[in-house]
Parts: sequence; C-alpha cells; structure tokens
Amino acid sequence: MNKKVEKALNEQINAELYSSYLYLSMSAWASVKGFKGTQHWLRLQAQEELTHAMKMYDFILGRGGSVNLKQIEAAENKWEGVLELFESVYKHEQKVTELINDLYDLCLKEKDHATGSFLQWFINEQVEEEANVTTIIDQLKLAGAEGPGLYMIDKELSVRVLTPATTA
Ligand code: FEO
Repeated sequence: MNKKVEKALNEQINAELYSSYLYLSMSAWASVKGFKGTQHWLRLQAQEELTHAMKMYDFILGRGGSVNLKQIEAAENKWEGVLELFESVYKHEQKVTELINDLYDLCLKEKDHATGSFLQWFINEQVEEEANVTTIIDQLKLAGAEGPGLYMIDKELSVRVLTPATTA
C-alpha cells in the first residue's frame, strides 16, 4: 500500500487508541465522583474508539500493509465537573475530525481511492460524534450542570448501548 498513507493510518490508529485511553480516564473520574451514567457513557465511548482503531488496523493488514504501534500519550485525569468534561470531549473530537480530514486529503493527493473510500465511514462517524456530544452539552446547559438537572442527565446517559454499526 502507499507508504505515506500507511504511515498516516498508523498515526491515526495511535490517535484512536489515545481517544480510548482518554475516555477510559474520564470514565474512571466519573466513577470516583459518583456519576454512574457519565461513567457508563464514557466507558462505551472508550470501547467505540477501540473499534475505530481496529477498523484501521484490519484495513492496513487487509491491504498488505504494516501495522506499527507507537507509544500512547498519557491521558489527563482531572476535570472541574461534568460540563467541563464533556466540553473537553467535544474539543477532542474536533481535533480527531481535523485528523480524519487531513488523512482524507492525503488520500486524494496520493490518489489512494481505496483508502479514501474506507475513510468515508470515519467522516460520517465524526459528524455523529460531534452532534452527540453537542446534544449532551446543550442539555447540561439547559437543565443545569449540577443538582437535579445533572442528576437527570446523568441518568439518561446510563441508557446508552453500543450499536452494531459501531461494533462491526
Ligand atoms: Fe474515533 Fe471519537 O473518533
């Protein structure tokens, strides 16, 4: 496979694994603070990020490329509160969107249409992820990021399930 694209895909695997690591750290924070729904939502999010990394891992191997796993950056572990935490998730996802877009641009430049087509799924996934987090942030701002409002939203976050499309 195209070596520049292979290298960039490997870097994206690292970014997805870091995302998983970060959300796992956030989930642990939520657990300690007693936000059970937030803990659950983030734990599933961490699992979902792992499936993103694995999709890329399998794609590289399927194309006869090499997987090159590098060191994963340490994840932060302190947040002011649930609202601030979800705002960090949103900022992080915006960064991931940028990375995916850059990766797609590289595929166009390198005329690697197969990888470009593969990345379409990730482009759509990023739209969905940013929208989901925006909804949570809006709800927290509306209902209140503490007290009964937070309690209610935390409860709603506990019903999230991993969808087949993202576990595939
Ligand atoms: Fe794998 Fe949240 O992007």
